[in-house]
Amino acid sequence: MKASQKNVHKRIQKWYKAHGRVDLPWRTTENAYHIYLSEVMLQQTQVKTVLERYYFPFLKKFPTLQALGEAPLDDVLKMWEGLGYYNRAKNLHKTAMILTQEGQTLGSAPTLPSEIETLMALPGIGKNTAHAVATFAFKKPVPIMEANVKRILCRLKQLKTPTDKALWEIAYDLVDKKNPFDYNQAMMDIGSSICTPKNPQCEICPLSSICQGKKEPTRYPTKKKRVVPTREQNIMLYVYNDKLSLTQRTGKFLHGLWGFEKIDIPLCAAEYIGEVTHAYTHFKLICKVYLYDELDPEQNSYFTTQEIRKLAISKVDEKIVKLYLDTIPTY
Ligand code: ADE
Repeated sequence: MKASQKNVHKRIQKWYKAHGRVDLPWRTTENAYHIYLSEVMLQQTQVKTVLERYYFPFLKKFPTLQALGEAPLDDVLKMWEGLGYYNRAKNLHKTAMILTQEGQTLGSAPTLPSEIETLMALPGIGKNTAHAVATFAFKKPVPIMEANVKRILCRLKQLKTPTDKALWEIAYDLVDKKNPFDYNQAMMDIGSSICTPKNPQCEICPLSSICQGKKEPTRYPTKKKRVVPTREQNIMLYVYNDKLSLTQRTGKFLHGLWGFEKIDIPLCAAEYIGEVTHAYTHFKLICKVYLYDELDPEQNSYFTTQEIRKLAISKVDEKIVKLYLDTIPTY
């Protein structure tokens, strides 16, 4: 290894001890399940939200991989409610079930595997999550590829539109094999606090001595202008005796969650009460909401708004309940 890289490792380690978020609960534990859970939650959700609202209640309800693997999916979805991207919860549950069964066959407590290939064979564990679990739970000398880390690597090598292959090669070359845990955690923190998208502070960056892009860091990587398409849906709220009709979803998207009925054309007698919007990663959803004071001909699961609170429903349907509650005083 080059002397310059060794120096950078030293600076990164020193920086992490002084400025890193060393007290995050998933950084102070050796429990592989806790670390795995945090990585799945953090895939699409900010640290603050995970920390304040989801990580601890989830672990209280499902303290072990086995407890999670033996729980009904409905209970898992309920604890995930509001976090969105519910496939994460379903895959987490599937993986816990697989490992629990494996543990039972072997007569041992279920655990996560430590090998990257084996981790990646489990539902919902992609390349980055496998690397994160391997390095954070098992101290493997491998890098991670989280969004903040990608930005650092692009600037380091002046890459405008890097391929995944190029990024992983650079990451493997740069990782500190002596203390990969602190190095990887530090890289995320440096990316989110110093090597920021808009105003990076190269003067105080521990990587500046080897950074090729520090003259004009914001040129790397090139920003993709994303055009997010809009989708529209009509939602019918069937109301009967102050109860609302909901069905449990079976499709791929939102599977297992309870929700209101989508319809192509609203019934003539239905009353339009407003719209709710929701921004998903790949599209913006606009729901036009209609109220119909009759029994839903399709089904008979009716719930009061109190009862709906106990069901796992999506953020969009939560917004629809709120719209409904804001509307009914006029009836
Ligand atoms: N995002 C993904 N993994 C993380 C971690 N271990 N700490 C903070 N943010 C993260």
